[in-house]
Amino acid sequence: MIIAHRGAKGMAPENTLTAFRLGLTQGCEGIELDIHLTADEEIVVCHDMTLDRTTNGKGLIVEKSLSEIKTFDAGHWFDEEFKGETVPTLDEVFDLVPDNIMINVEVKYAYEGRIERKLVEFLRRRNRLSNVIVSSFDHKCVRRIKQMESEAKIGLLYQTALLDPTAYARSFDVEVYSLHPYFQMLDSEDVLKATESGLYVYPYTANEVKDLLKLTDFGVTGIITDFPGKLKALLQDR
Ligand code: G3P
Ligand code: CA
Repeated sequence: MIIAHRGAKGMAPENTLTAFRLGLTQGCEGIELDIHLTADEEIVVCHDMTLDRTTNGKGLIVEKSLSEIKTFDAGHWFDEEFKGETVPTLDEVFDLVPDNIMINVEVKYAYEGRIERKLVEFLRRRNRLSNVIVSSFDHKCVRRIKQMESEAKIGLLYQTALLDPTAYARSFDVEVYSLHPYFQMLDSEDVLKATESGLYVYPYTANEVKDLLKLTDFGVTGIITDFPGKLKALLQDR
């Protein structure tokens, strides 16, 4: 599965509607995005906790209302041609992305559990639990989400070379759906053991041809990439 990281992040401003649209045009089968909570408890799509790097605004997202966040430009920093983009709400992204495209929602920060409750309510309201994976580096957070909603699919993000990722995932008292390792820390044995145990494996974030080919040979379920079009072309050539 080709998964567009923050949209087609390599060619458009990350986590914007234009980046997601471009990922879809390039043939992605999944979209990865990051979420945060605003002061008025709306879920918005942005990687950082602050607006500083990817918009012309400043400060913590959680200290601003959605209407204030919407006044900032989220495209110009990447290139003049993307001027006018705004930080999207999760609703806006779900309106854009067809139901057959998997959405991987990464929870960046739990906001004392508030974002988890909001997200579960959101996924129920949108009737989208079956084709969404909720992942996080905060494994207690995704565990709470699964405890709240048994239909939720949860994924474990990790950056280190775990001794036995499958045993770790299977040690949870709830069902873990997928592993999301940093691609450099993954080996073929990990992938085989995980997939044989029924876990899906989505490494992040591979962009070089040699890495994309290596991960494909490992038999991963999907690859999270900034260049979905490149991965699509590679897979077509094989
Ligand atoms: O979900 C995979 C990947 O996006 C995790 O790292 O920093 O790009 O959010 P980051
Ligand atoms: Ca992410």
